[in-house]
Amino acid sequence: MGADLWGMKPETLLAQLDHFTDPQTAGVVPTIQPSTTYVRGPDNALLYPDLCYGRDQNPGYRVVEGVLSQLEAQAIAPGVGRDLDPETVWAQLLASGQAAGMLLVQALKPGDQVIAGLHMYWALRNQIERFCQTWGLGLHLVDMRDLAAVEAALQHGTDGCERLLLCEVPTNPMLYMADIPALSRLCRAAGGRLAVDATAATPILLRPLTLGADLVFHSTTKALNGHADLLGGVLLGREDGSAYSERLRSLRAGLGAVPSAFDAWLLARGLRTAALRVRSSSASALALAEAMERHAAVSVVLYPHKDQVASRDMRGGHGMLMSLRLAGGAKAALVATSRFKLFLRATSLGGTESLVEYRSAIEGPTSPVPDDLLRFSVGLEHIDDLLADLSQALEGL
Ligand SMILES: Cc1ncc(COP(=O)(O)O)c(C=O)c1O
Repeated sequence: MGADLWGMKPETLLAQLDHFTDPQTAGVVPTIQPSTTYVRGPDNALLYPDLCYGRDQNPGYRVVEGVLSQLEAQAIAPGVGRDLDPETVWAQLLASGQAAGMLLVQALKPGDQVIAGLHMYWALRNQIERFCQTWGLGLHLVDMRDLAAVEAALQHGTDGCERLLLCEVPTNPMLYMADIPALSRLCRAAGGRLAVDATAATPILLRPLTLGADLVFHSTTKALNGHADLLGGVLLGREDGSAYSERLRSLRAGLGAVPSAFDAWLLARGLRTAALRVRSSSASALALAEAMERHAAVSVVLYPHKDQVASRDMRGGHGMLMSLRLAGGAKAALVATSRFKLFLRATSLGGTESLVEYRSAIEGPTSPVPDDLLRFSVGLEHIDDLLADLSQALEGL
């Protein structure tokens, strides 16, 4: 264990879970420790000083947290952001991606300001709206591509209040990018903090901390685990010694928002293949996006492959999420949805199986998502089969 594989490619780090061997058995797979409590010696001292109670202490968390800290600390390519010392990047597993995102606002104090993306995962946006109202936080929803609007929103609040800029890159389901280095500069100038939800990109393709973000989080329910069989989240941050960071770290145990030992173990298992899965799904999503650019039934392809910020900041692909707006409007989108034979009609993303979703029905009337939009999570099936299914679903529309 340790930073032995520092500087190596993500496939290498993940395939061996940072060169993991179990210290007690030399097994190559971490054991699951389901115990919720840990024994003290006759002197009443804990036998293992950092293992006392299972609310946030489990040896299985540390394996995954260590691997993800290393991954997020390493610039995605030379010249794209800068390497950080992995020892200065903390990570904590959480019970869900939603718990990771909510922790960021729950650690604020009344009067603090949240500047959140107008386009972001809708359930998190809704929950943040409610929490800000009841907890007396200022909330400003802004299109993160509009840097002047972000700069103006960062001026809200009184001297000394926390300003949290929360943006998703790329956004679900519009696939809009945000300029992380530029947002980070605006944040610093205003004394704020930048937190990025990079769930749809994963650290395989994008490393927000190395680009200047202070915090990054993922729903590990999605591609990091990749098998649609656990709910989880992870929050990582740059060590800055602030009271806010301290609250973030103590709140996980305070709220008890932790994954089970088994889910942490499943995540370790899923992570081993994450780089291969994410690259494969991204290549298929790109192929579908390119094919759909020429399709008569499609009015807009939403995928970041031609975005300048994505070309600058991402490497190895642009993710497994892709959306289409249909020329025939909501009616065509619903007809197409009913026709899929291979894509499964289901929510979520990042699994081995490809999914399609008529998104505006899920998000409701206040959603900024157009009613002609279909969202696809592209899995690991052969691209020819995916393309054939998509083509037959859109035929004649
Ligand atoms: C971009 C994004 N962030 C956060 C979440 C919340 O994650 P979870 O479902 O693990 O709570 C989701 C869930 O769909 C998501 O798509």
